[in-house]
Amino acid sequence: MSEYEVQKYAVIGAGNMGSGIAQKIATEGLPVVLVDLDDEKVARGMGIIQSTLQKGVERGIFKPEQVERILGNVSGTSNWDELGEVDLVIEAVFEDLGVKQQVFQRLGEVTKPSCILGTNTSSFYVKDVAAVTPHPERVVGLHYFYHPAMNRLVEVIGHEGTDRAAYDAAWAAQEAIGKTPIDSADAPGFVVNRYFVPWLNEAVRLLEEGAADIATIDWAAKRAFRIGMGPFELMNVTGVPIAMHAANTLGEELHAFYAPAAKLVDQVENVKENWDLSGEPDESKFDVVADRLLGVTFYVAAQLVDEGVSSVEDTDIGARVGLRWSKGPFQLINRVGVAQARAMAETITSKWELPMPKLLADADESGIPIQLVVKGQRGGLTSVWINRPDAMNALNPEVGAQLQAALDAAQSEGRGVVLGGSGKAFIAGADIKFFVDHLRADTFPEIYTFTADGQKMLRGMSGNQQPVVARVQGLALGGGSETALACDWIVASPKASFGFPETGIGIYPGLGGTQRLPRRVGLPLAKYLVYTGQILGAKQAAEIGLVDAVVPFSELDAACEEFAGKGVAPARTGRERCPSENWQAIWDYFASYSVDQILGGEADTGGNPVLDKAVKRMSQKSLNALKQAERLFNEGHHLELNDALDLELRDLQEVFAHPDALEGLSALIEGRRPEFQAPARA
Ligand SMILES: NC(=O)c1ccc[n+]([C@@H]2O[C@H](COP(=O)([O-])OP(=O)(O)OC[C@H]3O[C@@H](n4cnc5c(N)ncnc54)[C@H](O)[C@@H]3O)[C@@H](O)[C@H]2O)c1
Repeated sequence: MSEYEVQKYAVIGAGNMGSGIAQKIATEGLPVVLVDLDDEKVARGMGIIQSTLQKGVERGIFKPEQVERILGNVSGTSNWDELGEVDLVIEAVFEDLGVKQQVFQRLGEVTKPSCILGTNTSSFYVKDVAAVTPHPERVVGLHYFYHPAMNRLVEVIGHEGTDRAAYDAAWAAQEAIGKTPIDSADAPGFVVNRYFVPWLNEAVRLLEEGAADIATIDWAAKRAFRIGMGPFELMNVTGVPIAMHAANTLGEELHAFYAPAAKLVDQVENVKENWDLSGEPDESKFDVVADRLLGVTFYVAAQLVDEGVSSVEDTDIGARVGLRWSKGPFQLINRVGVAQARAMAETITSKWELPMPKLLADADESGIPIQLVVKGQRGGLTSVWINRPDAMNALNPEVGAQLQAALDAAQSEGRGVVLGGSGKAFIAGADIKFFVDHLRADTFPEIYTFTADGQKMLRGMSGNQQPVVARVQGLALGGGSETALACDWIVASPKASFGFPETGIGIYPGLGGTQRLPRRVGLPLAKYLVYTGQILGAKQAAEIGLVDAVVPFSELDAACEEFAGKGVAPARTGRERCPSENWQAIWDYFASYSVDQILGGEADTGGNPVLDKAVKRMSQKSLNALKQAERLFNEGHHLELNDALDLELRDLQEVFAHPDALEGLSALIEGRRPEFQAPARA
């Protein structure tokens, strides 16, 4: 087990960033100490948290009692002696290297030897902050984005001397607080600011050259990048001087191309005001503006991957999660086409006499490969990671194909495999839009092929020589729960949750849910879960044997290795008795009654509120889907697993051909309640 286990957090600096980071940690239910220079500054930071949460209550995001609970997790102090028991410190003091080094020196003295020290610096090297501590091996960069309680992105930065185990623990500690971590080298601007700041700067250069006015540049940028705010509006919101300082740092460290435009410096030093956004856009100038902003983005993104600062995938995730662009730089390159993208980047490289990044120079017209599934290593295991955090790692044919390829390659590596997802969700299910598009286009065979391929992949996962462990850190819904069930072992974090919502959208679980679930938890409880769509937390899932273990985030990786060490799991044949007293009434009810009996009112709940709720939930589902699921349960239960799984494919067309499928799936996308045909009645 790692010597670094993060349970208790501390944040140093109760300013804009620090108070937001502490708020997020507390909101996720974890204890955090917020430290500043004196009690007044601490109180100010606590006040920022309180008023942000209060606004959340007014907007209906939080209930007042939740706010009480969150505030109960934060303790403010100016006494550094209270940091002795803390496992991870996040420093967010002024952006001044001397001040940060002082803080790190002191942290080295007051924290315990296994405490990880993180810095939220935007412009210094992590190694320079680490240099003053007696333990540089446990220093990492943790670069959050404003507003840190809402923006999920965090760049996790190891410097040359960072201990791998400390890095991994810091990463897991970000997952534990609901963040989406990406990896960055210890390099100027890390990942996102490296291209975002030049993007802002280039907007000012366009203005300076008279290529377009502010209103036109903002309008064109919004359209080209499909974003809500253009560069000038963004600078006004986040502070024009911050953009200039960031460009200064990049310019000093990297190249004159990155240095602030003269007009940006003038705006900060002489005009000393926000940009004037007024005016009407001149639509004829769209291409001039869009091509330049895209060119800068393409050049820098490809360059930072060339330099090994980040991967193609993390660079894109950074843009989508951190900046809320609808596509990352490499997706944009593939959208405009490599030749065109290269030509756009060339306007930058030729002007500044910079070499074309190799990634862009060597790419062919098929585009830059973007891995939605990444194979790597985690501890002693081969890791296979679904890497679409902003799409909750939803399954679609492309993800499926890449998952299959990664699993095949992993199996031949001779180690156990850990299957995970990046961000807050493990896998939130299948891509619903894919189903809707094909139902509307009357191309059901695509749905069949996707499901059959998915089944084939999942069948191939268990019973191999190498065990596969599902590392379920967050939400596993529908196809996500089914994927976990197909693994040999399931290890869950306390934040994991499982559910089978399919009957509520007019279909049944088609990736083994109606067959593997009863073999894990017993037929009656499987029926309960599929008929009601009830979502289970990790603890409940453990109670009924849906997962093999629930462990804190800090122990997840070690627990996955431990289960992989047990080898492949023996075939699960289903339990005959209820696994826990808490579930007996549900077990008995669903063991005794059919869907028709339950919905026809023949099945007496005896006034048990849990059963009454189950019946109510069933009455909102598609009756067609419920009955088809029931048929699959009852027929499949007596068969060998492989034969039983075939039944789900056999009936697939029937369930998708029923109008409830299109209605249920479309309603989900449209955010409304479905109106099923021949609705089930309680
Ligand atoms: N603001 C952003 O958008 C943003 C984004 C990412 C990273 N950052 C980085 O986060 C850090 C903090 O930025 P901010 O905007 O929150 O600054 P801020 O000025 O709002 O807050 C800094 C806080 O640190 C406290 N502080 C200063 N010296 C201290 C010391 N020795 N011990 C304890 N507390 C001390 C100050 O009293 C203040 O409350 C900076 O390194 C900045 O570069 C900022």
